[in-house]
Amino acid sequence: MQLTIYKDYQELSSHTANEIIDCIKNKPAAVICLASGDTPKLTCSLFVQRILAEKIDISQCMFIGLDEWVGIPPENGGSCHHFFHKYIFEPLHLPSSQFYLFDALSNDLNEECRKMDQVIADKGGIDLMVVGVGINGHIGFNEPGVSINNYAHVIELEETTQSVGQKYFKSPVKIDKGITLGLQYLLAAKKVIMLANGTKKAPVIKRAVEDEISTQFPATIMRMHTNSLLMVDEEAATLLNNK
Ligand code: F6R
Repeated sequence: MQLTIYKDYQELSSHTANEIIDCIKNKPAAVICLASGDTPKLTCSLFVQRILAEKIDISQCMFIGLDEWVGIPPENGGSCHHFFHKYIFEPLHLPSSQFYLFDALSNDLNEECRKMDQVIADKGGIDLMVVGVGINGHIGFNEPGVSINNYAHVIELEETTQSVGQKYFKSPVKIDKGITLGLQYLLAAKKVIMLANGTKKAPVIKRAVEDEISTQFPATIMRMHTNSLLMVDEEAATLLNNK
């Protein structure tokens, strides 16, 4: 895993947007999996700005949503669906054939997982995954102690994830389960970028880099990947022993 420390959130986001664009330029039919949340917001906006300003052809690429809160409707402003539509699909006028998201309202969530696995397999796997990291070290909704062998799966969310997750919603919601791509996708993706910014992520980044590799702190699994980048701003890097 290669660590790069950027001056601030703006620089971090601009370099991440460049990474996604480079991926598409190298492979127009790229399969790109993105996380939602606060961290990638500016990346998504800068990515969209460049695509539109430079008229970059994205007509062949496919976007996959990393995860979703089980039971939260897509129109809810805190859902991952809402994020992807607002920050990427709508501004790019992307047809529905070019993205795939979990249906977290489905009566058969296991079937949803199989469908997601099938979509990714049919596309030949993920080329680039851009993920954030939770306070408990989760990637997507791969919570501490998750099996490393999982593909798409449904998972009980830790107390921390449930309480931190309230920040996305206007009023309190029950978010005790998530549906997510598993760590097998992280390991199998051709390239993975993990992003973190701000001082509140500093202890998380320290553990991601310095703890022993274990699913007890899923962010450490990034270090098992031979083509992974950890991209952080100076604030998130403050506690690292070796910068
Ligand atoms: C969201 C996701 C989560 C977030 C993580 C960090 O789709 O997969 O794992 O990336 O909880 O969230 P923020 O970026 O809001 O700090």
